[in-house]
Amino acid sequence: MDTITVHKASKLQGELTVPGDKSISHRAIIFSALSSGKCEIHNLCSGEDAFRTLEIFRQMGIQAESHSGDYLSVTGKGLHGLQEPSTVLYTGNSGTTTRLMTGLLSPQCFFSVLSGDASLNHRPMKRVVGPLRQMGACIHGRSDGNFAPLAIAGSKLQGIDCTLPVASAQIKSCLMLAGLYAAGPTRITEPTLSRDHTERMLEHLGVPIKRESASVSVMAAADIRPERYDIPGDISSAAFFIVAALLVPGSELLIKGIGVNPTRTGVIEILQAMGGIIELQKIRTVCGEPVADIFVRASRLKGITINGSIIPRAIDEIPVVAIAAACAEGTTVIEDAQELRVKESNRIAAMTCELQKCGVTVQEKEDGMIITGAEQLEGVRCKSYGDHRIAMSFAVAGLVAHNEMTIEDSDCINTSFPEFMPKLTELIR
Ligand code: S3P
Repeated sequence: MDTITVHKASKLQGELTVPGDKSISHRAIIFSALSSGKCEIHNLCSGEDAFRTLEIFRQMGIQAESHSGDYLSVTGKGLHGLQEPSTVLYTGNSGTTTRLMTGLLSPQCFFSVLSGDASLNHRPMKRVVGPLRQMGACIHGRSDGNFAPLAIAGSKLQGIDCTLPVASAQIKSCLMLAGLYAAGPTRITEPTLSRDHTERMLEHLGVPIKRESASVSVMAAADIRPERYDIPGDISSAAFFIVAALLVPGSELLIKGIGVNPTRTGVIEILQAMGGIIELQKIRTVCGEPVADIFVRASRLKGITINGSIIPRAIDEIPVVAIAAACAEGTTVIEDAQELRVKESNRIAAMTCELQKCGVTVQEKEDGMIITGAEQLEGVRCKSYGDHRIAMSFAVAGLVAHNEMTIEDSDCINTSFPEFMPKLTELIR
């Protein structure tokens, strides 16, 4: 197991890019494999999760080749061209792979089994298995289908009208993929809109869908056209550098080509409300997604209350927002974020415990945390809980802690951002 050690930095300065958006990368691979021809994916996320999705399609007969110039070509075989896999489809640590593939595999005319690593196989799957069964899917798994391994016997599906108890792009996208094969319309309504990359990609590809605030309807699709995908930088990866630049005095960073889809920019709005100087520059649209360069300058932050509909728009960034809160003046209250308990780790428990080790006053709540900013963080030995976002959050904390910060079991960073530490080190002046 690897560890990383981070020392207090004098300042961060320069320009950088981050890997392609992980959520969009999964979807680009899926729709390329289902298309009727050769697709190009540029700036695919370099993390293991996207690779898991790609490998699964390879196991189902899809050809994909990596090329120099940093692109992947995928030859789609059409909506009905996947072959029955002869072994278990391994989804690693990737919840997105597992949930989206469960939706896609349910209507195929073959048998398949999805299984992941120890953390993944303890994450709740009933949230997708339940509505898929209502559509007619035949899925078995531990605890009546709540935990992977999931065994799926492909069957004919019927569209449903479904209201989700939580805003979740994974559940929504799972059901949309199933709906592309179902008889009749499939309508999904969320309590508030979660990331809408699947909707945008289908619209960009000319597949008819209907959207109305937090509802989306899909119908059985005839075909999906081959496409060139240019994936924007991942705002969830950029967030670590945004918080780092805000916290380390004298810092200025320009993070180029980042996806700024409004369903993902909660982190920017939260940090701006805390007093952070963050500007979006050169906003443009690429493959139906807004993209910008993000300028950040070191700022004095103050505590705020974060709750309601901004939570799903910042869900993956709450751990690093908690680091910002730990360094802010006053108290930050994070509420309505119980979903954090079922991510790659229990992120509420993990952040509370590790921040307390760093000398920060944190009160754990069922749906969030109350964090009182500390004058100075203590550098300690932190655990990552095998969770990439916990590991990178404490690496950022290490830049401002008064003695060195060591993060144990840091290999999990490869899940989304293998180049994280070299990129961070390069910016330290
Ligand atoms: C994702 C959706 C989110 C997010 C995850 C990626 C996606 O999960 O936390 O990292 O690509 O659809 P939920 O939809 O379960 O909130």
